Amino acid sequence: MISYIYITILLIATISASTHLLPFSKCPKEDFLRKCLDYYIKGSVNFRDDLFAYNVDLNIEYNKLIIHFPVAFVHPVDILDIQNTIKCGAEFNFPIVARSGGHSSECYSIGDKDCYLVVDLVNLNKITVDVTSQIAIVGTGNTLDSLYYKVNLYGFAFPGGVCPYVGVGGLILGGGMGHLSREFGCSSDNILDAQIVLANGTVVNNAKEYPELLWAIRGAGNAGYGIVTALTLRIHPIQKVATYFYLTYDLDQTPLIISIMNQMGNNLHQNLSFIMRILTSGSQPYIYGIYLGSADELQSHIHEFINLSKPKNVSYIEGDLYELFNIEGISPEDGETFKLKSFFIDSTGLSEEGVKCLMKFRENFKCELGFEIALLGGRINDIKRNETAFVHRGFMYHMIITSIMPSEKCLQDLENFSQYFQLKYTNYESYQNIIDRQLDNWQYRYYGESFEKLVEIKRKYDPYNLFRWNQSIPTHI
Ligand SMILES: Cc1cc2nc3c(=O)[nH]c(=O)nc-3n(C[C@H](O)[C@H](O)[C@H](O)COP(=O)(O)OP(=O)(O)OC[C@H]3O[C@@H](n4cnc5c(N)ncnc54)[C@H](O)[C@@H]3O)c2cc1C
Ligand SMILES: *[C@@H]1O[C@H](CO)[C@@H](O)[C@H](O)[C@H]1NC(C)=O
Ligand SMILES: *[C@@H]1O[C@H](CO)[C@@H](O)[C@H](O)[C@H]1NC(C)=O
Ligand SMILES: *[C@@H]1O[C@H](CO)[C@@H](O)[C@H](O)[C@H]1NC(C)=O
Ligand SMILES: *[C@@H]1O[C@H](CO)[C@@H](O)[C@H](O)[C@H]1NC(C)=O
Ligand SMILES: *[C@@H]1O[C@H](CO)[C@@H](O)[C@H](O)[C@H]1NC(C)=O
Ligand SMILES: *[C@@H]1O[C@H](CO)[C@@H](O)[C@H](O)[C@H]1NC(C)=O
Ligand SMILES: *[C@@H]1O[C@H](CO)[C@@H](O)[C@H](O)[C@H]1NC(C)=O
Repeated sequence: MISYIYITILLIATISASTHLLPFSKCPKEDFLRKCLDYYIKGSVNFRDDLFAYNVDLNIEYNKLIIHFPVAFVHPVDILDIQNTIKCGAEFNFPIVARSGGHSSECYSIGDKDCYLVVDLVNLNKITVDVTSQIAIVGTGNTLDSLYYKVNLYGFAFPGGVCPYVGVGGLILGGGMGHLSREFGCSSDNILDAQIVLANGTVVNNAKEYPELLWAIRGAGNAGYGIVTALTLRIHPIQKVATYFYLTYDLDQTPLIISIMNQMGNNLHQNLSFIMRILTSGSQPYIYGIYLGSADELQSHIHEFINLSKPKNVSYIEGDLYELFNIEGISPEDGETFKLKSFFIDSTGLSEEGVKCLMKFRENFKCELGFEIALLGGRINDIKRNETAFVHRGFMYHMIITSIMPSEKCLQDLENFSQYFQLKYTNYESYQNIIDRQLDNWQYRYYGESFEKLVEIKRKYDPYNLFRWNQSIPTHI
């Protein structure tokens, strides 16, 4: 109820503050679209005049920086519903976008302007596990949490992201990095096959029979090639006991711990995640991670780091991997807006000057600011840049800067800082899943030298650019 009231207020506030189409007025050809959908679609369809249901749908967007209003949310119950949604949408010129978990940081799962037709995949929530062949077939309407839970029942794990409430569709198709990626690679490296509904309505049941399409969706599958309805994933058998560790520090130790991470990061054990965070403006740094094995074994891998970096407190929790994943399960704070910036850092690490620059910016920033530096390496870097559409290989860290509830001024300051910081201290590339509308030359920052090939493949599978938004792969360079 609270969120319903919230979003209603948000709607009204947005209307009065902008020239966007009124949410209760109609999109061009909306009546035709409605007739078509009413006739063909078995699942529920919420237009703007279904105020309550429409608001619930809109509110699924995790970032509350909602600035536009879809014509309707369709909840297909099967593949035929998706094919028919595409037919109706295309016939009446509505751009179409898929939504899995709604965690796009720019709300691209409701498009980039008013009047998108949103295909919400929530009903495609089947998961089947084949223990013998070590695969899972996963509907893209699932959250990571359901996937982790299901494979864990059989003694398996899948390398996804750290936050269990993110959608399988958006995260896995655009890379996917988390606690197990040093050991098993990115999520997209573990896509073996997929079922996709193309722009012309054709269903590709086995993307592996279309090698270039499969190549493209392993890293750019959430960038406009079609609606991916199911993924066949490689899952990995794991030992029974895993260990979560948590090291706390004082703020003035930050330069020291980053310099020790730089020194030791390339040699830390591969079955270990290692993430350093300062979450908010007032908080202290900590390092946490998960190791696949016992606390005793883990200690033997990180004691040197602990000796050198001198944490204030060290704690270990041994347990079942699924339970450990949920320790970090921060659930969304209702009503928050946020802005994320992504940086990759080369194998020498973040320089002392870079750390100084970051800490100084943090001190002077007028809004809430947090950052995290996650150790990459291991299996992620064993794979060649051109083997999939996820090119970001050979880096030591991925770093995210987060501003919560940023003002306009803070957004500008963050943008100015990020450009300078990226130019001076980090690699040119940025992570496509931390999608960022302000990013210049995003085509090459996200996809590197693979961008041209991605455009060619897009032209083949979606020649009329039915699946399009500001940062989808275009049909022409
Ligand atoms: C709180 C939070 C934590 C995060 N943690 C991590 C992390 O640990 N590791 C990591 O790698 N990333 C992380 N991310 C980034 C995350 O990978 C992206 O936001 C991802 O796009 C979210 O997927 P989704 O399905 O929830 O999003 P959605 O908003 O539903 O989709 C994102 C994009 O993918 C497209 N899309 C979604 N499903 C499909 C589909 N089935 N077929 C075709 N296109 C589709 C949508 O159209 C949209 O453009 C995090 C983001 C947030 C907000
Ligand atoms: C998309 O791009 C257009 C034109 O560049 C811009 O006006 C609009 O604000 C952008 N929308 C989003 C959501 O980034
Ligand atoms: C890492 O964990 C996997 C799966 O539990 C195990 O098979 C492998 O031997 C471990 N690797 C190392 C180097 O210990
Ligand atoms: C860590 O420090 C302790 C005591 O200070 C010492 O006994 C131990 O040998 C050190 N271990 C390493 C790996 O440096
Ligand atoms: C250190 O961690 C343990 C748990 O491992 C906890 O019980 C204790 O309170 C912590 N101490 C401090 C000073 O935070
Ligand atoms: C990747 O590049 C190498 C040459 O550098 C080439 O031989 C190989 O075929 C390419 N692989 C793909 C999948 O494009
Ligand atoms: C932009 O960032 C640079 C580097 O942090 C800083 O020197 C400069 O003053 C900033 N400019 C503005 C307008 O904030
Ligand atoms: C749809 O597009 C795909 C990919 O280009 C093609 O293989 C298929 O034949 C097309 N289907 C129809 C009905 O045109």
